[in-house]
Amino acid sequence: MKKSIETSLSHIAKYAPFEDVAGASHFPIYNTGTFDLKKQHGEKIYDYTRSDNPTREMLENLFTDVEKGAGCVCTHTGIASVALLFETVLKVNSHILVEADCYGGTFRLLKVFKEKYKITVHFANFLEQENLEDILKNNPIDLVLCESPTNPGLKIIDLEATATLSHKYNALFAVDNSLATFMSQRPLEFGADFSLFSTTKYVSGHGAVVAGAIVAKTKELAQEIHYYANALGRSQNPMDVYLISLGIATLKIRMQEHQKSSIEIAEFLQKQDYITKVTHPALKSHPQYELAKKQMDYIPGVFCADFESLELAEKFIQNTEIFGEKCSFGSPDSRVEIPAKISHASFSKEELEAIGVTSGTVRFSIGLENVQDLIEDIKQAVQ
Ligand SMILES: Cc1ncc(COP(=O)(O)O)c(C=O)c1O
Repeated sequence: MKKSIETSLSHIAKYAPFEDVAGASHFPIYNTGTFDLKKQHGEKIYDYTRSDNPTREMLENLFTDVEKGAGCVCTHTGIASVALLFETVLKVNSHILVEADCYGGTFRLLKVFKEKYKITVHFANFLEQENLEDILKNNPIDLVLCESPTNPGLKIIDLEATATLSHKYNALFAVDNSLATFMSQRPLEFGADFSLFSTTKYVSGHGAVVAGAIVAKTKELAQEIHYYANALGRSQNPMDVYLISLGIATLKIRMQEHQKSSIEIAEFLQKQDYITKVTHPALKSHPQYELAKKQMDYIPGVFCADFESLELAEKFIQNTEIFGEKCSFGSPDSRVEIPAKISHASFSKEELEAIGVTSGTVRFSIGLENVQDLIEDIKQAVQ
């Protein structure tokens, strides 16, 4: 029987590689380094948790199913899933094409790969598909990578068109799905070869872990990521898998609530004369509003508001009682940050300008609090 994602998420123990003897609703945490080879008689033999672990396998099976892939590796951080992608696909002297508006940690990682492994990195605005094609035509690109929505610019990239273009020039296409999550969009259905995400965010949903995952479209690619995850020690520990398995069941209702409250707050901010611009993909004023609606089932609760000055943005952040000044997003507690100071501190002023971030840009991640409380808090904080 074909099941909806929320049904699958509410029965995660069914994704365990074998049945628990007591039918536990929460599959046990196999917190062990090793397994006794003599005591196993099933088809699959476990030897060492770095390579395979039943608890982790449960989450990997779930992610493979909901992302419509052929295999998955859960990693110890979200950035480890990006690193694992690079380690699997790139070789010394490879070329990679990346959307310029990418997570600051990915930007820093690309710098490391550039310096250590002589990787050539091409940055581009993926809204300009003709320019993208020019780069693909004129360079031996092995891998194309983007987020959608991008972060913090919140551009919506046409995933189907980018997958088609990448494959036309024999490049693999990977999407960082941290912000939208599989509840909202499944990149492999649009033709991507990999969907990777930080489970630190909406997927675990409670800000209690730092972890990630990468799902591959084909069995061959899945085997390769599994091989490199074991060789390079990228896999996630079973305790964190358990924490994620607790939070994940409420993903759909959380995404609905994050979406609703964030739209209300974005609309409130749009009317304030100290705000020069609000960028939220669910607002009609967003340039890719129609594509966002077509590509995503839920619009995540992250948006940007440009304050008229850095001073006012800082005053707001200083005075707010509910919003924490924190990086990351997708938690129950609302948070704000100035990308130029925190998540994108590794970008130069010019690089920030190119992705539309000003010094007064504040990124909001709206949590699950009462929305009126949040609006009242903003009002008192800017006074
Ligand atoms: C889009 C995106 N990808 C990857 C990461 C890295 O994830 P983690 O912090 O879990 O390592 C982040 C973290 O903020 C992110 O925003």
